[in-house]
Amino acid sequence: MTQSLQAYLEHKRTVDDRALNDRVWSAFVDGLAELAAFEDSNGRPNEPVRVLEIGGGVGTMVARLAERDALAPSVSYRLVDLDERNVEYARQHLPEWLEEAGYEVERRRSSVLARSTDERSADQTVEVHLEAGDAFEAPDRDGERSEADAVIASAVLDTVDLEYALGRIPDLLRTGGLLYAPITYDGTTTFSPPDPLDERLTELYNRHMDEIRDRPGSSRAGRELFAALDRPGSEFDLLEVGGSDWIVRPRDGAYPADEKAFLRQLLETIDGALAAYPETALAPTDRQRWVDTRLSQLERGELSLIARHLDVLARL
Ligand SMILES: C[S@@+](CC[C@H](N)C(=O)[O-])C[C@H]1O[C@@H](n2cnc3c(N)ncnc32)[C@H](O)[C@@H]1O
Repeated sequence: MTQSLQAYLEHKRTVDDRALNDRVWSAFVDGLAELAAFEDSNGRPNEPVRVLEIGGGVGTMVARLAERDALAPSVSYRLVDLDERNVEYARQHLPEWLEEAGYEVERRRSSVLARSTDERSADQTVEVHLEAGDAFEAPDRDGERSEADAVIASAVLDTVDLEYALGRIPDLLRTGGLLYAPITYDGTTTFSPPDPLDERLTELYNRHMDEIRDRPGSSRAGRELFAALDRPGSEFDLLEVGGSDWIVRPRDGAYPADEKAFLRQLLETIDGALAAYPETALAPTDRQRWVDTRLSQLERGELSLIARHLDVLARL
């Protein structure tokens, strides 16, 4: 990838903003507010609400939650990502994003403490703990109870072993807690204008995710997640499901925000996946012709993308 994964994750933010399913989002935000209103047996409020974000990347989800005033009044937000470079990028950029969302920010050694100075959401505090590591193995932090009130896994469950992840999440989440898993890929990546090679290349790109790349993950993770949570005997109660397709299109030949760079990086990822096939499966000249055509269309501001995802909300 010419640009870093961190830049890609930042460029993806506005694409996800549009894609996120409003119904599933609202149900999650209402659920967070209910969790905050919950009192323990001594009548003490459930504060702070503890959120664990698995594979939080560079921190765009917590920035979005803050920007949309979707957080409970007091939140302890633990972002864990396998890639130290993502966490470092979040350390550098998240304070600024939270400030843009109307928060006053204090950088601490391993966290970012943000207090809302916005009149609409007075007395709001979120402390974001940024950690590099395997979120499924997330140990207790500083001896604190590690069970979260909510687990977020955004654009992540299609990149991991889903069965393993769904087996681990109940250990990370308290009973009655929420699992919010938006932007879970579900098998279709299409570009416009159409090209005769599209169908074949999408199939190969998906097959690369399923069988060839040396990481787990599934091109049908969206529907597999739906089926796993919905099946009789599941530990989870499936609350909401909705489509969250990425749709990127130029207007008058220009792309919004950094979405041109996002599309270029996506095309590079697809090209890299297709390059893994032997000549007998895909002629290099066909691949090159397709990628060159798509890049030229992008440069001319003529290329659009539709990529299918599902958003899922479940209660343990
Ligand atoms: C496609 S990115 C999505 C990042 C972010 N959620 C977003 O939407 O921008 C998937 C992320 O999951 C992280 N990841 C994968 N498996 C993980 C694990 N076991 N623990 C923590 N992070 C993980 C990767 O490092 C990567 O940053």
